[in-house]
Amino acid sequence: MRRIYLPIAILFAATILFTIAITGCGKKSVKSNEILIGEFGSLTGTTADFGITTRNGIDLAVEEINKSGGVLGKKIKLIVEDDRSDPAEAKTVVTKLVMQDRVVAVLGEVASSRTLAAAPVCQAAKIPIISPSSTNPEVTQIGDYVFRICFVDDFQGAICAKFAVDNLKLKKAAILKDIKNDYSVGLADSFKNTFKKLGGIIVVEQSYSEGDTDFSSQLTAMKAKKPDIIFVPGYYQEVALIARKARQLGITAPMLGGDGWDSSTLIPNSGGALEGSYFSNHYDAAMGGPEVKAFVASYRKRFGGKAPNALAALGYDAMHIMADAITRAGSTDGAKIRDAIAATKSFPGITGSITLDANRNAVKPGVILQIKNNKFNYVATVRP
Ligand code: PHE
Repeated sequence: MRRIYLPIAILFAATILFTIAITGCGKKSVKSNEILIGEFGSLTGTTADFGITTRNGIDLAVEEINKSGGVLGKKIKLIVEDDRSDPAEAKTVVTKLVMQDRVVAVLGEVASSRTLAAAPVCQAAKIPIISPSSTNPEVTQIGDYVFRICFVDDFQGAICAKFAVDNLKLKKAAILKDIKNDYSVGLADSFKNTFKKLGGIIVVEQSYSEGDTDFSSQLTAMKAKKPDIIFVPGYYQEVALIARKARQLGITAPMLGGDGWDSSTLIPNSGGALEGSYFSNHYDAAMGGPEVKAFVASYRKRFGGKAPNALAALGYDAMHIMADAITRAGSTDGAKIRDAIAATKSFPGITGSITLDANRNAVKPGVILQIKNNKFNYVATVRP
């Protein structure tokens, strides 16, 4: 008797497996009540603080959106990938998000080099991508599916140069940039152009590479040229070390930098060496009204009392803009979401009113902050 049933059992099992395979039940399947959005960022590695704080802002927005009914009657489901602060890994994880998870849109990255590496995957697949905070001009030039909701480094470099010349009345600048970082190289150029136009001189230009820990030769060469300000368009880890070394060598000129300085680890790691220095950024809690206060309060409540930095605010705004665009598109079709993002006008963000221009960039004010008494202190808002 047994022998007769065995082939039937095998046939039965094979049928079930075949059914699972073609319907995809065995795989991670998209629930019909969810909209999948991909996010990639540096949750680990050299700039982990960028990735973690951005993700916090995005998570907070997703929670708010889902609590108030979701988008198109569905819940947003975020699929998060860690690129370990590495451009090649950024491309790999975004390929996975687009090809395997089949997300309808992507959020990321912070660092321009990583958005530049990964966004072409989205462009080729016609999946819209919004970078919350990549400021290098080339990012959105990748194509018509690539957006950002922050200003561009042509503007950021110009406001830093203007601040140095007009407000600080300093005319002799040194530049120390990260040669392997697209953001750093581009921001250095933009600063230099405006600084010279305003009558300043660049007395010396030096470079380093991400991960370097010894900056003595560059700073020694700088000291000899007696700059009255040092422009360091880098990321927080190296900036803290550069500042320490500069002070050790007896350089007293203030330093000036861009948004890449924004990390709560900057001041502790610099051991007081950045006291009196300045940097430009996208947001400060002091610049906003009641919506900003409400955002700061809910962020603090959600993340153990920590205050949101600019990255958290930009991540939060990027997610809300994406949800708003999908709602206006009335669809999760890539081309329709793309058109809706492109039409974003006067969106009331935490980081300011957001309108996307024809080149898919946001035109927004920037802020200048000063490090004083071991805190970031708001100095000024600079409009485009
Ligand atoms: N603008 C930087 C880049 O393009 C990233 C950054 C944004 C870092 C905001 C800190 C704060 O690489």
